[in-house]
Formats: sequence, structure tokens, C-alpha cells
Amino acid sequence: MDSDYEKALALLISGEIIGMPTETVYGLAGRVDFPSAIAKIFKIKNRPFFDPLIVHVSSVAMAKGLTTTWTSMIDVLAHEFWPGPLTLVLPKSSFVSDLITAGLGTVGIRMPKHELALKLIRDLGAPLAAPSANKFGRSSPTTAKHVQSEFKADSVFVLDGGPCEVGLESTVLLVDGKDLSILRAGKVSKSEIEKVLTAAKIPFSFSEMENHKASPGHMKHHYMPAIPLLLIESPQISQLPLTDLKKIVSQKMNELPAEIQGVKIIKPQSVDNFVELSLSADPTLSARQFYSSLRDCAETKADVIIFYKKEFHSGENWEALFDRMRKAASLVL
Ligand code: TXA
Ligand code: MG
Repeated sequence: MDSDYEKALALLISGEIIGMPTETVYGLAGRVDFPSAIAKIFKIKNRPFFDPLIVHVSSVAMAKGLTTTWTSMIDVLAHEFWPGPLTLVLPKSSFVSDLITAGLGTVGIRMPKHELALKLIRDLGAPLAAPSANKFGRSSPTTAKHVQSEFKADSVFVLDGGPCEVGLESTVLLVDGKDLSILRAGKVSKSEIEKVLTAAKIPFSFSEMENHKASPGHMKHHYMPAIPLLLIESPQISQLPLTDLKKIVSQKMNELPAEIQGVKIIKPQSVDNFVELSLSADPTLSARQFYSSLRDCAETKADVIIFYKKEFHSGENWEALFDRMRKAASLVL
């Protein structure tokens, strides 16, 4: 192993936090058994204390130590989808502090599918708490460079594990006995979960979360780029001449509040230069490119980033991407 890996491991051993690669997005990682490391994660991210952290493990045995409940359903889900982009929210054991879970009786657990993350956790012999490595409310990082630029002032060491393969945060699944709810959409879809449980003859039922009380970190606005994103969903609006569109956008942007739920809404000084966000027509590639392309667009210093949603952008494969897109957008027309 190279010296960057050794450095990352030594920092974690000493109770420091680091930027850690995973297959979804980069995480800001610290040992779960070091309260000072957990406190530092919240502080550096400007994260509110009501938003719980996900705990990363390298084995099923390690996951079992974090929860009081390990049913055959959980076993099937873990064996099928781990390592991978599925976070299971389960009743927490006393090993997990209230700071990590924001006082909830449950903990989010996942095994990341990235060789370096798994090796770090294995070598430490301790789980790592890690939220996405971005400041609160902002876009998640999918390269080591993104993390470095996000925490320039905080001198956080980042272990470079290359660009993230998935590119969007994990699916968060609340497991309450036989009842399942998807708290956050991700690459692992509801129908994949249904298929696996049906094949294993495990009884289950999905409930739609009417409100997101069960997931306190879920905000209307999140993942926002440095310049405002305008998402155009209406076919009529997308047909408008640019001058008319600019007038509407300018007026609507003016009407927006400065912040919502503690997240600063990104507003342009003026609405003159648009840069179009373009993504692959393939949902897997599109997810991989999304956060990185948003950052690239923001660097052009245009006034507004614009994305046109097309007819083919529908169905389960696009769900996670448009969940993030809608939350990242200052305006949806
Ligand atoms: O892919 C990912 O999940 C990435 C990588 C680094 O693993 N992590 C990530 O963490 O996206 P974060 O903190 O940005 O988002 C985790 C979200 C929280 O905002 C919260 O809504 C939900 O997961 N969550 C965590 N623990 C929970 C719990 N006990 N109950 C309900 N929701 C929980
Ligand atoms: Mg996040």
C-alpha cells in the first residue's frame, strides 16, 4: 500500500477525519468510537445536529454489532446488495452514540463498494461514520479534487480513490419489521429490492413516506451548486424564445427567499448568460457525471445553469437523479 493510504489510516487511528472514496460519493470519515471525530465532522460540514450520519462497515459481522435487530430479511438484503449503494436504517445498539444518529433510535448502515474504503475499515477494525464530503446544502463530491476544494480552509487530508463509479448517494431504506420505506432514492431501486425479497420468500410491504419525519436530513433544497440551477420540466416553457424565458426566470428568481430550512438559495445577480448542463442519455452514465458536470458548469461563471428535462427522463432508472436535480435547482419551471 502506498504512503497516502498509510497516512489516511494513521490519521483515522489518531482520531482525525479524512476525505474517503466510496463508489457513490466521497465521504468525510471518522471513527464511530471517537466522539471528537464525530463532532469534527458536524463542525467542518456545518451540518445541523438533527441530521444523522451513515455508518460504514466492512463486514456483516461488524454491521451486526451496530444494531439490536438482524432478521432474515436484513440478512438477505445485506448479502444481496453489500458491498454497494444501499443504506439500511435499523434499530441502533448501544455501541452507536446519539450524536451519530441525531438522537434517533435507528442507525443507517452500509458497506461501501470501494477497495480503499473497505481496507481502511478492515485495518482499523472499527466502523467509520461518513456523510458526503461537502458543506451542508451543497453538491456532493465525486472526485478527490472536489473534496479538496470544498474543505480548502479546513486542511482535510483526502485519500484519492479515483472518480466515483455510481456518482449519486446511496439508497436509504428504513427497515421496520416487515415494513420498508425508501427514505432516499439511489441506484438500488424499489423493484430490485422487491425482486430479491420475493425470490427469497421473505414477506414484506412497502409504505410510501408521506412526510420525511423518519429522515430528518431530508430537505427541500440540498445539493446546490455554486451558481443557480434552473430545471425546465414543462414542454411549453422549453419552447419559449430565450428572451421570454430570461424575463420569466428573472422575475421568479427575484421572488425567491434568501434561504429555506437553513439552506441558502443560490440566486444570480442577473439572468443574461445561460450554460446548459448536458448529461448522457444513459441513466447510469448520467448519474456518474451529474455532480461533476454541475461543478464544471458553475466554473464557467455563467449566471444560470439550465437543464431541459426530456420525455425519456422518466421511470425508475432516472428517479434518484431527478430527486437530486430538483433539490439542487433554485427554480423548477
Ligand atoms: O452514498 C452515501 O450514502 C454517502 C457515502 C459517503 O456513503 N453518504 C451520504 O451521507 O450520502 P449523508 O450524510 O450525506 O446522507 C445520509 C442521509 C442523512 O441525511 C439522513 O437523511 C439519512 O441518510 N439517514 C442517516 N441515518 C438515518 C437514520 N437513522 N434514520 C433516517 N435517516 C437516516
Ligand atoms: Mg449529503
